[in-house]
This record gives sequence, C-alpha cells and structure tokens, in this order.
Amino acid sequence: MKAFTKRKYGGPEVLQLEEVEIPTVKDNHILVKVMANSANPADWHILRGKPFFARFSFGFFKPKEAILGSDFAGIVEEIGKGVKDFKVGNRVFGEILGGGAFAEYACVQTKLCAKMPENVDFPIMASVPVAGLTAYQALVTYGKIKAGESVLINGASGGVGHFAVQIAKAYGANVTGVCSSKNIDFVKPLGAEKVIAYDKTSIQNHNIRYDLVLDTHGNLTHSDYKRMGKRGVMVGFTTLGHMFSVLMKNAISKYPLTQFTEQANTDDLNTLASLVKDGKIKVHLENTYPYTRIPKAISFIEQMRTRGKIAMVWGNAN
Ligand SMILES: NC(=O)c1ccc[n+]([C@@H]2O[C@H](COP(=O)([O-])OP(=O)(O)OC[C@H]3O[C@@H](n4cnc5c(N)ncnc54)[C@H](OP(=O)(O)O)[C@@H]3O)[C@@H](O)[C@H]2O)c1
Repeated sequence: MKAFTKRKYGGPEVLQLEEVEIPTVKDNHILVKVMANSANPADWHILRGKPFFARFSFGFFKPKEAILGSDFAGIVEEIGKGVKDFKVGNRVFGEILGGGAFAEYACVQTKLCAKMPENVDFPIMASVPVAGLTAYQALVTYGKIKAGESVLINGASGGVGHFAVQIAKAYGANVTGVCSSKNIDFVKPLGAEKVIAYDKTSIQNHNIRYDLVLDTHGNLTHSDYKRMGKRGVMVGFTTLGHMFSVLMKNAISKYPLTQFTEQANTDDLNTLASLVKDGKIKVHLENTYPYTRIPKAISFIEQMRTRGKIAMVWGNAN
C-alpha cells in the first residue's frame, strides 16, 4: 500500500510516499481502507519531533512510528478477533494519535473509532476526530458547560475553535469568539453572539467576565484567565515557556483552570457524529488536497492560521 512515511525528524520535506506492507489486523482492531484524512498541529509537532520532550513518547533519535497521521475516515476492510461492534463495509472515522493514518490502510483499535453518519462525506468526518474531540472535551468533559452560561473562546476560527463555537452554542451557551478581523464573518455565523478581533482590540485589556474561558490559541496568561473567567480550560500553547508559566502559577493558585490532552473514545465520537448529522456542527474545510499533496497540507497547517479544517483524500472519497 502507499503511505507517507517519516524515517527521520524534520519538516514536510522529509515525508516520502512509499510502498509498504498493509498492516496485519490485531485483536480488537479493525483494518480500515482510508478514504480521507485531516491534518492537525500535532502532525507537524510529531513530524519535527518538537517540542523535544515529545520524543520520549514518539522516539528519541528517530520516529518510532514511520507513518504520519492521526485523523482518518474510511471503510472497514477486515475485523480482528474480539470485534463485535463493527462489520466489514462499515463507514468509520477516528484517530490514531501515535500515527499511521496517512496511508491507504490503517489498523486501529475499535475504541478509537465510531461509525459515520449516513449521507456525510469522508473528508468531513475525517476532519472531526482530534479537533472535534478537543473542543467537546474542553467544553463538556472538563469545562462542564451549562445552558445559559457565557463562554469566551480565544482562537475561535481554527480547527478546535470552530468546533468549540458550534458545540458551545449547541449546548445552549452564549459565545464570544476571539479571532483575527479577517475571520469575524466566519466566526459569527458559527453561533458567536459577539466576536472580538484580537488585531483591533487586545484581549489582554478585555474586562468582561465569563463563566468559562477556553483558550485554543494559548497566549492567555494566568491573570487573563482569572480576570475574564470564573473557570478556564487551556488546550493550545504558543511557547513551552508561556505554557509552563501559566501551569506553574496555577499550581499555587486555587483558580479552577484545567489543561488536558484529548483522548479518543467511541462515545464522544458518536456524540460528535450526531451533532454533525443533526446539522449542529458544520465542518468547514478551507482546503481539500489529493493524498499526493499531504506534505503541502502539513506546510499549510504549520502556519497555524487555518480557517476551520483541511482534508486530504485518497481516490474518490465521497
Ligand atoms: N490539548 C490537546 O489535546 C490539543 C488537541 C488539539 C490541538 N491542541 C492545540 O490547540 C491549538 C489549536 O489547534 P487547532 O487545530 O485549532 O489549530 P489551527 O487550526 O491552526 O487554529 C489556530 C487558530 O489560532 C488563531 N490565532 C492565531 N493567533 C491568534 C491570537 N493572537 N489570538 C487568538 N487566536 C489566534 C488563528 O485564527 P486567525 O487566523 O483568525 O488568527 C487560527 O485559526 C494548537 O496549539 C494545538 O497544538 C491541543
């Protein structure tokens, strides 16, 4: 099968389209014929081996997993021993955070997958897992959002942010989004009552108080959270120094600020699939690339200015 491999750490130029063995399906796993992928900032972090401490998980001198990629949607080709909830031919989506998704076939634990809603395309559902789960778990699992609450979403136009605005709205919250002025008209129709353009009004001088502050961009300081939010959730980071400074201050403060790493699970993926099916989440694809241009897609995502998501397709992925 064809796969995009990384035999060493580096930029998109180290990715090679290689012919490799189709993975053997393991117990409690399914073999998926991949129809579409999406890219996330995690892909370029893993590709470059940055930040450096990530190499303790992903391989110290060279990558442990040769094939890049996390988000996928495709068709079940084979099921492993013990698999009960999926059948050959099911249309599924999910994530493999360790990598292995940017390939014609991927072997995935069933607990990291869910069935796709009918009548929704592979590129749309491939774009849901990492960013959608991050937004959902930030707001619902950790942020404990309730109907009628006010939420400030910093970084409202990106992959995580555009899901977060729509999920917060679907859960009955009043949303204020923060993005660049070029994206105001993108964020408002997602369901934000108010939009603050960070390049016109500094968020560091914003004094309105919200029930929850969610920072997907990662530039808020600990005092920004305390000033603007009754509680906070941090998912993005700009520099490691900034993130550690927020976490260190939080360690000695009683302020309820949570930082977490999203975890895929079938229940949360099913919830996201229902929100997509019911039209409560509309996935915005800024670009769709053929699989041969996956390195180009990674270069694009690395700029960290994506409006919504991007997708990459293998063959005719509808
Ligand atoms: N904790 C976790 O488990 C987890 C999971 C997924 C992602 N993440 C992290 O979350 C972050 C966002 O991921 P993503 O997929 O949403 O990235 P993305 O699609 O690249 O979106 C980033 C967004 O940040 C916005 N932005 C840039 N400068 C900003 C500023 N000064 N103030 C506010 N917003 C600004 C951009 O909007 P404009 O173009 O409008 O400026 C862009 O749309 C990344 O750091 C990623 O590593 C964490």
